[in-house]
Amino acid sequence: MTRPLKIIVAVGRGGEINYRNSLPWERIPRDMDHFRSLTKDSTVIMGRGTFESIGCRPLPCRENFVISRTLCGIEGIRIISSLQEALHIATFEETFLIGGQELFRQALVSDWVSEVYLTRVHAEFPRATVFFQEKLMYGRFTDDTSFLVDDGDDGGYDVTYHRYVRIA
Ligand SMILES: NC(=O)c1ccc[n+]([C@@H]2O[C@H](COP(=O)([O-])OP(=O)(O)OC[C@H]3O[C@@H](n4cnc5c(N)ncnc54)[C@H](OP(=O)(O)O)[C@@H]3O)[C@@H](O)[C@H]2O)c1
Repeated sequence: MTRPLKIIVAVGRGGEINYRNSLPWERIPRDMDHFRSLTKDSTVIMGRGTFESIGCRPLPCRENFVISRTLCGIEGIRIISSLQEALHIATFEETFLIGGQELFRQALVSDWVSEVYLTRVHAEFPRATVFFQEKLMYGRFTDDTSFLVDDGDDGGYDVTYHRYVRIA
């Protein structure tokens, strides 16, 4: 593998990451800023489902890779066949996997992930159908920094921001 991979994800209390092909919660402006500032000027890798959930458009100021066996020919997007391929051809210094469930799983069972930026939304979203399998991180990552933000910009939720670093 040519470079470390970073995961960025936001989860509900039960690991929920989606509802009806979107996020389970209403806008959380601070988390959106957090995502933008971390991933700006980097390579972002996503599955086709995540690409559709962001409106089938590339994220600006980033190199966009979409993993798919069915898509082809979309301007501003490089369609690739696997996470391994993405890590070999990425040209930016940092590489973030931004979703979804199956690709997070594939990455976490590999040795490729160096850090996980995890936003924890302290609420339950019972109608969610897609989950982040945080148990795959147990014993292999340590919570390096976490902080609670209470500046009224978290969409009415209690939210904590974590950075987990690989230890094993
Ligand atoms: N809360 C968060 O932080 C967060 C982050 C990301 C996404 N999400 C949410 O999660 C949902 C999307 O996640 P998802 O799990 O349903 O979909 P996904 O993982 O984004 O995409 C799944 C698709 O990726 C392609 N794919 C996956 N593994 C592949 C492989 N090994 N080789 C080739 N192609 C592969 C396939 O596309 P083809 O069928 O085209 O082959 C597959 O159907 C959305 O609702 C989104 O809002 C939330």
